Amino acid sequence: MKDNPIIVGLDIGTTKITTVIGEVGEGGIVDIIGEGSVPSEGMKRGAVVNLERATHAIRQSVQSAERVSGVRVESVFVSVAGNHVKAITSHGLAAIRRHQEITQPDVDRAIENARAVPLDPNLEIIHTLPQEYVVDGQEGIKNPVGMHGVRLEVDVHIVAGTAGPLLNLRRCVQEAGLKVEGFVLQALSSGLATLEAAEQSQTVIVIDLGGGTTDVGVFKRGNLAHSACIPIGGDHVTADLAQILKLPHEEAENVKRKYGAAVPELADPDLTLEITTASGSTHAISAFELSRIIKPRLSEIFGMVRDEIDQALGPIELVAQSVVLTGGASLLRGTTELARDRFRLPVRLGRPRGIGGLTDIVSGPGHAGGVGLVLYGIGQDGKVPVSVFREEPAAAPTPAPTPVPEDPRGKAAATVTVVTPAAPTAPPKKEKDKDAPNLMTRVRGFFKDWL
Ligand SMILES: Nc1ncnc2c1ncn2[C@@H]1O[C@H](COP(=O)(O)OP(=O)(O)OP(=O)(O)O)[C@@H](O)[C@H]1O
Ligand SMILES: [Mg+2]
Repeated sequence: MKDNPIIVGLDIGTTKITTVIGEVGEGGIVDIIGEGSVPSEGMKRGAVVNLERATHAIRQSVQSAERVSGVRVESVFVSVAGNHVKAITSHGLAAIRRHQEITQPDVDRAIENARAVPLDPNLEIIHTLPQEYVVDGQEGIKNPVGMHGVRLEVDVHIVAGTAGPLLNLRRCVQEAGLKVEGFVLQALSSGLATLEAAEQSQTVIVIDLGGGTTDVGVFKRGNLAHSACIPIGGDHVTADLAQILKLPHEEAENVKRKYGAAVPELADPDLTLEITTASGSTHAISAFELSRIIKPRLSEIFGMVRDEIDQALGPIELVAQSVVLTGGASLLRGTTELARDRFRLPVRLGRPRGIGGLTDIVSGPGHAGGVGLVLYGIGQDGKVPVSVFREEPAAAPTPAPTPVPEDPRGKAAATVTVVTPAAPTAPPKKEKDKDAPNLMTRVRGFFKDWL
């Protein structure tokens, strides 16, 4: 019996390094058969800063996925993000002889033409992604081969990375004993994994809120038409909490995941935490006050996304029909609500879809990048393989809550105690609390103490 093809994605993030092993069955249906995630090492905002540590973490992640799948990994598709990645959209043109059909070489010529833009010699092209074609002024053509016309035009989204950081990434993967099958822009892989069939005919903004970066991809009728990487992510929210609450990073992360909310209206109104800092002083903070610390950072990130789109494509409300939020940091309560408010567009949480196998493990938004690498590997042309849409999620992925780390109180010098735990089913209060002024005074007092 012939073995099914195996495609492996290696998502090298700032927070975690994840290996996802996909098996391609009949009709291109993808089963995830292996997954391995380890805390990231040697990486900062998408770039390798310590070769040895990054190599070590990559090896660990791959070995863990190999153990689950029983498959030996030889080559991988690797995610790329960070400040060193540049993307431009360029226009290409090809003249067609009168009375002749457009052929594949004509299409290639138009694309090649678009690629002939002067790029910094230090940049290495990662993707050349053609958008829709225009034949004699007729727009919106997916495949012009076989059509008649004299003028073939195409917009091509070109993604390039600085040679140095790409070489470092390649070196780490090779040192871990693996071949780099290809580099894939994080925004592209996240979009491939999360976009739904209906969104393939719209313009959708995919925002992957990671730990150290926020990757933005604008998908126009299924094609990546614009991309950007913002060097701020969920870890900055944690850092803000750690600094203001005077807590170690792990403790602040724990507080954020367990009690944090991106909008004060969704914070648990009955919850107060008592924080004992390393120096022994004790302070109380309500969940409402906590979210007042979290919100500005997330608002800043969404503001930067909005500016980026405004500048490149025009007002976001006019450019796009909806927003898909994904990445680990999108799990924070109230993040979609805040995004809805900032973008004034419908916003949904994007989880990897259209896959079978270990869906319970890879169905969280933090796995969009890794699963997307596998889907990219199958399609290889920057489009979601059609098979993904043939069946809506085989085993409808149940929203798997990201495991909350155990309270590391024993390790940290500071402690966080829940003083007034809320009833677990208490519905979030929509309206402002009656005694809001009172709370505000407390918040102000709190900031005065700490800033
Ligand atoms: N349940 C949760 N609630 C709130 N935040 C969470 C939760 N789970 C994960 N996060 C946050 O998600 C971020 C990590 O997301 P993700 O795993 O997508 O990052 P990454 O891919 O390693 O990083 P990057 O894409 O920036 O390189 C961290 O900031 C973490 O605090
Ligand atoms: Mg990521």
